[in-house]
Amino acid sequence: MSRSGAVGTVGKTDAKTGAKTGAAPLPGGNTVLVELEDGIAWVSMNRPEKRNCISPTLAAEMLAVINALEADRRCQVLVLTGAGDSFSAGMDLKEFFRDNDHLSPPERAHIYRTNAAWQWRQFQFYPKPTIAMVNGWCFGGAFTPLVSCDLAIAAEEATFGLSEINWGIIPAGVLTKAVSQVMSQRDCLYYIMTGATFDGRKAAAMGLVNEAVPLRDLRARTRQLAQILMEKNPTVLRAAKHAYRRVRTMSWDDAEDYLMSKMDQVRFFDEEHGREQGLQQFLDEKSYKPGLSAYRRDRA
Ligand code: COA
Repeated sequence: MSRSGAVGTVGKTDAKTGAKTGAAPLPGGNTVLVELEDGIAWVSMNRPEKRNCISPTLAAEMLAVINALEADRRCQVLVLTGAGDSFSAGMDLKEFFRDNDHLSPPERAHIYRTNAAWQWRQFQFYPKPTIAMVNGWCFGGAFTPLVSCDLAIAAEEATFGLSEINWGIIPAGVLTKAVSQVMSQRDCLYYIMTGATFDGRKAAAMGLVNEAVPLRDLRARTRQLAQILMEKNPTVLRAAKHAYRRVRTMSWDDAEDYLMSKMDQVRFFDEEHGREQGLQQFLDEKSYKPGLSAYRRDRA
C-alpha cells in the first residue's frame, strides 16, 4: 500500500491495465490522506484532533486530491472516510464560519464554491465509483459528501446528526436538498428540527447508507464492495451512475431519449466491447449466466 506524500521512484506501466505503477506522487498529505491499495484509493479527511471537521484548507486540499485521482489509473474506486475515530464533525465552526464573518460576500463565495465543488458538484458525477465509509462521528456538512458518494457503508457504532438547529442555523449549503434525496420527508424533518443523533443501524434503515456493519468489519466490507465494483466494466459503470442522477429530474420522454443515447455512447466508448463479450460468453460459449454474475473481463 502507498500513502500520500510518498513519492515513488521509477515508473513502470502495467501491461494489462496501462496503469502507472510506483511512479507518480500521491496527492494530499496534510488535511487529506490518500492510501492506494489494489485499485482502491482510501481518501481520509485528516484532522482527527478536530474530529475531521471541514476547514477551507481541507476543502481546497480535498478538491485537489479528487481532481488528481480522477485521471489517475491507479484509482479505480474512491473510498471517502475519516482518520481516527471520526468520519467528520461537519463544517469547521471556527475556520469555516466565525473566522470568515468579516469577509465580504464575494470573498466568502470563493470559499463556499471550493467546498461545494468537492462535496457535490465533482463527487456526484465523479468518473469513478465512490463509497463513503462512515467510521464514526458524522455531523452537518459531512452529510453532503456522504450523500454525493454513490454508495455508503457505516459502522453500526457511528453517530450521525443534523446538528445545525443546535447551534442556531439551518442546514444550508445544499445540505437540506442532499438529505431530501435519500431520506423520507418525515425523517428529514424530524432530524432537521430536533437535531437528535442516530446510529449506523438507523442510518441504514432510513436509506441514508446502504448498510451498517460492526466497526471491526467496516474496512473489510468496504473493500469487498469496492472489489465487486472493480469487476464491472468501468465505462458502463460510469454511464450507469451518471444516467441515474441525470434522469431523476427529467420527464419520462426525455429520460428515454437520454438513456437510449447514453447506451449508444457507451458502445462507442467501451474499449473492451462489454456488450459483445457479454452476449458471446452467454449465448455462444455458455460460460456464465448474466443473471448471476458478470462476464469475464480478462477475456475482453
Ligand atoms: N468545528 C470546529 N471545531 C470542532 C468541530 C467543528 N465542527 N468539531 C470538533 N471540533 C473541535 C473541538 O472544538 C475540539 O477542539 P479543541 O481540542 O481545540 O478544544 C476538538 O475538535 C475535539 O472536539 P471535542 O468536542 O472535544 O470532541 P468530543 O469527542 O468530545 O466530541 C463531537 C465530538 C463531534 C460530538 C463534538 O466535537 C461536536 O459536537 N462537534 C460539532 C459537531 C457539529 O455540530 N457539527 C456541525 C457543523 S455544521
